[in-house]
Parts: sequence; C-alpha cells; structure tokens
Amino acid sequence: MKYGQVRSFIQNQFCEKPRKTPEGIDLRGSIAIVTGSSSGLGLESSRQLLALGLSHLILAVRSEERGKAVASQLQSANPAAKIDVWLLDMESYKSVQDFALRCESELSRIDIVILNAGIAEMDFDIVPSSGHERVMQVNYYSTMLLTVLLLPILKAKVTTGMPAHITVVSSLMASFASFPNRSKRPLLSSFDDTSITPWDPVERYSTSKLLLQMFLTRLVEGVPAEVVTINMVEPGLTKTNLFRKSRGLVGAMFDIMAFTSARTVEAGALTYIDAAVVKGTESHGSLLVNCRIAP
Ligand SMILES: NC(=O)c1ccc[n+]([C@@H]2O[C@H](COP(=O)([O-])OP(=O)(O)OC[C@H]3O[C@@H](n4cnc5c(N)ncnc54)[C@H](OP(=O)(O)O)[C@@H]3O)[C@@H](O)[C@H]2O)c1
Repeated sequence: MKYGQVRSFIQNQFCEKPRKTPEGIDLRGSIAIVTGSSSGLGLESSRQLLALGLSHLILAVRSEERGKAVASQLQSANPAAKIDVWLLDMESYKSVQDFALRCESELSRIDIVILNAGIAEMDFDIVPSSGHERVMQVNYYSTMLLTVLLLPILKAKVTTGMPAHITVVSSLMASFASFPNRSKRPLLSSFDDTSITPWDPVERYSTSKLLLQMFLTRLVEGVPAEVVTINMVEPGLTKTNLFRKSRGLVGAMFDIMAFTSARTVEAGALTYIDAAVVKGTESHGSLLVNCRIAP
C-alpha cells in the first residue's frame, strides 16, 4: 500500500462522515431495485429507501428464503409499500438475463437501481456454469452484464422527464489494485488460471472493482445523463459480513480495521442514498466517496 492510499483510507474512515439524507425527499410513486439486498448495505439501503416513501421495492436476491425473511420485516415497518422478492444469482448469466427480462415485462417504470451484490473470497474458485473465477464473475462480469441489459429497459421506461438512476457499488480498494495480469492476452481467461495469475484475495477483489470502474467510465460516454444517470459509490469500510471468510493475516488485518474504524451499516448506506437519490446528472460517470465526486 502506498502512502497516498493509506492517507485516503485514514481520511475516509476517521475524518469523514457520510452526510445525512436531506429532509423533504419523497419517493412516493417510485420503483427501485436493489441487488444483494438480503443483508448488509443492500438491506440497509432498501430500508432507507422505504423510509423515504418508496412505493415499490424489488429485493433482487439469490436466496428466496433469506429474501422473504427480510421482505417480511421491511413490510411490517412499511405497510403501504409493495415489496417483491425476485431471484437473481450473479454467478449465472442465465439468471441475470432472466432477471432483466422480468424487469422489462413486469415493471411499468424503474426509477432507481442499486447494483450492490458483491463478494470477497479467500480461496480461488471457478464458477462451473461460466468457467470464470468467482470474484470476477460476481463483482465484474455479471454486474457489467446486468448494467448493459438494464440500460435500454430503463431508457424505454423513462416517462417523467426525470432521469432514471443506476448506482453501482465500487470500493476504495479499486485504487489499491496492482492488476498484475494487465498485459496478459487473452486477458479475461488469465484471471481463471492461477499458473498465469497467482491467487491473491485482496488483489483480486480490488482488481474486480477497478475493472468495473473502468468499464462504467467508458460506458457512460454513450449514455445521456438526462435519460439515465449512472454513478458509482464507495461506502467506506462498513461493518457487514463481506469479509466473513477472511482468515490468517488478511483476516487479522480486516478485523483490526473493522474494530478500529468501520462505519455502521446505517452510515455506510447513507452513501448509497446520496448517490442514487440525492445526486443528479452532475455525478454521471463519477465515483462518489463520502458523498462527494472523487477525482
Ligand atoms: N462492507 C464494506 O466495508 C464495503 C466496502 C466497500 C464496498 N463494499 C461493497 O458493498 C457491497 C455490499 O457488501 P456488504 O458489505 O453489504 O456485504 P454483504 O453483507 O456480504 O452483502 C453482499 C450481498 O451480495 C449478495 N450476493 C453475493 N453473491 C451473490 C450472488 N452470486 N448473487 C446475488 N447476490 C449475491 C449477498 O447475498 P447473500 O446474503 O445471499 O450472501 C449479500 O446480500 C459489495 O459490492 C461490496 O463489495 C463493501
């Protein structure tokens, strides 16, 4: 880690607090989709959207059981809202495609999409259905595919004159990536073979988020912000289960960082609401850190 990166991390975790959502925001009439919403930041941001009056929430989750359990809690606190649980497994291209088709056929409008589902893995593993390494599959390929599939659907359903929003969850870790296999060709399969790219869990998580940022930065060049505003958000190190599989030195490092500096999930999710609801077209293509557009 370089000095600048340590400084950004310390600044982020100790000197900054995500801004509270301004008063007066009313999401009545709006429809939102949050992926990976059965736990952590996805669940908390869903809760915060509902607290702002959201009319219809799609919890896009890989486990129907976990999804239904959180939906019933959210429903009791928000009896007026319509809350649906839709299956989405980011390890499966077919599931991502089916999910997008369902959005197209069943939703009259889509105002907010938060692409939050993500993983950090300690061990190298291949997703059998795609042949790709799991972290790359979930954090990058499937998130990229879902963005591309949803984009024309959102465009076609924009009717109010207000842009739809896609907020994709990234991480400050992207700036720590060294992306050691950057010059390997073919590039994508070089992530799937540890004899070409030795496995390093922290590096892999960071690179998956870096590539997602690079992809989105290029994608927005062809998307008018007034139709669909696409931005990225870094929630800050937050107390969730993301690093639950960490062990050894990496586990000890995350435990110390979490103990000393991690945000509550309520504070972390404020950054999602800022990106998806408060920020406008000025944030198109940007990474938001502490509710500000980052360099
Ligand atoms: N926590 C942090 O410090 C931090 C910092 C920067 C960025 N982030 C990012 O924030 C996002 C949310 O993470 P979190 O911290 O809230 O961790 P989390 O509690 O582990 O949440 C991750 C969510 O993604 C879902 N998910 C994982 N694999 C999936 C798949 N194949 N298909 C569909 N959903 C899947 C999980 O579902 P299950 O409940 O079924 O496992 C879970 O709901 C991630 O993108 C992460 O990279 C987190």
